[in-house]
Amino acid sequence: MKTFSFPEDFLFGTATAALQIEGGDKNNNWYEWCELGKITDGTHCIVANDHWNRVEEDIDLMKQLNSQTYRMGIEWSRIEPKPNEYNKEAMDHYRDEIEQLIKAGIHPLVTLHHFTNPLWLEKKGAWTNSEAIDHFLNFTNYVVDQLGDIVSDWVTINEPNVYLTSGYFLGLFPPGEKGSTLTYFKAAKNMILAHLKAYKLIHKKRKEKNLTGTKVGVAHHLRIFEPKNGTRLEKLSCKLISRSFQGIFLEGMTLGKLISPVGSGYPEGKGVFVDFIGINYYSRDIIEGTFNPLVMFGNRLVKEGAPTNDLDWEIYPEGIYRLCKDVYAKYNLPIYITENGTCDANDDFRTKYIYDHLFYLHRAIAEGVPVQRYYHWTLMDNFEWLEGFSARFGLIKCNFDTLERVIRRSGHFYSELCKEKAVTDSIYEKYKDSF
Ligand code: FCB
Repeated sequence: MKTFSFPEDFLFGTATAALQIEGGDKNNNWYEWCELGKITDGTHCIVANDHWNRVEEDIDLMKQLNSQTYRMGIEWSRIEPKPNEYNKEAMDHYRDEIEQLIKAGIHPLVTLHHFTNPLWLEKKGAWTNSEAIDHFLNFTNYVVDQLGDIVSDWVTINEPNVYLTSGYFLGLFPPGEKGSTLTYFKAAKNMILAHLKAYKLIHKKRKEKNLTGTKVGVAHHLRIFEPKNGTRLEKLSCKLISRSFQGIFLEGMTLGKLISPVGSGYPEGKGVFVDFIGINYYSRDIIEGTFNPLVMFGNRLVKEGAPTNDLDWEIYPEGIYRLCKDVYAKYNLPIYITENGTCDANDDFRTKYIYDHLFYLHRAIAEGVPVQRYYHWTLMDNFEWLEGFSARFGLIKCNFDTLERVIRRSGHFYSELCKEKAVTDSIYEKYKDSF
């Protein structure tokens, strides 16, 4: 099928994270990590895209992309520089940004935690310390007091699995610990509990003010795991990896159910603790060999001969369809694609990437899966966690010397598609050389 369309009430937009674009904040764990010289290309997050000072310009770019919604992060360390001390000025800055978005007709979805911690929390052991739960709730409480009247849609936590595997298992994110399986599951439990409590808190606070339409969820990083040779042991390995990497968070944060090895039972009661399931989808892993708890995530390979992006991640569009079908069959809840995108410095294959993934998304919808939103990762090239500025995921190219932003061809394609909520005949004709 060459052309396809989305329901009228479907929303398209882009996603970003505060630290990756804002610049200017020294009070978080990632600033310190950069200072330690941990970023592979030697770049630093201290300026990033200087979005903090360019909010108007960037909202104007979102308008040019015909965005209907925007998933943005707010930086905890700016808002709560010391425990229980809040920075009203920082809060007002975000309020102003969100008011500008709403005025521009762009519906905000606000992420409370996206990989970064205030330094004071990091020094206490961050999420490995169960005190993080109350700290997160205090922060959430303050933010919802300040923004709850204009923000109805929230992501409590972004990709707890990537945050924890990278920080405590692979040593790639701060605090750089390696192989700490027990720490991983302990911190996972704290993050699950924090979400469950934050879900209740946000709903309660908005309800008290007679505000309706509250939507709270988690942005889960979901991957497809497939056995290389199809042996029984490899299949078992895939199941175990999938459970430790995503199953524990999906079950825990959606239904409030702790499954082993994180725990058991329903600490916050039985129920449904999300209003949508957020899926961040990027790639698939081929698993070779058997599950070894010491290399928790198995031997992950790229499928032979498959197309890959600049970071060597397999491009596997059908995966988005398979995940949506599976997650809906299991939880029967609306789905937002809270991230999907690719690293392509020369914009060689991003247009096709979007076209192919949206084709599969449209197919899932046609088969009855209630996918309601798509947030492309990302608005503009920004500070990518491991690689710095060299990994380019933007619909908009950013020159990090001048901070000039220029919409890429894939950005123009996305813009036209967002406007029509479809790949029409004329859009197809115009961009077909890319497909
Ligand atoms: C996801 C992160 C996001 C971005 C993309 C490329 O795992 O949530 O911040 O780095 O990957």
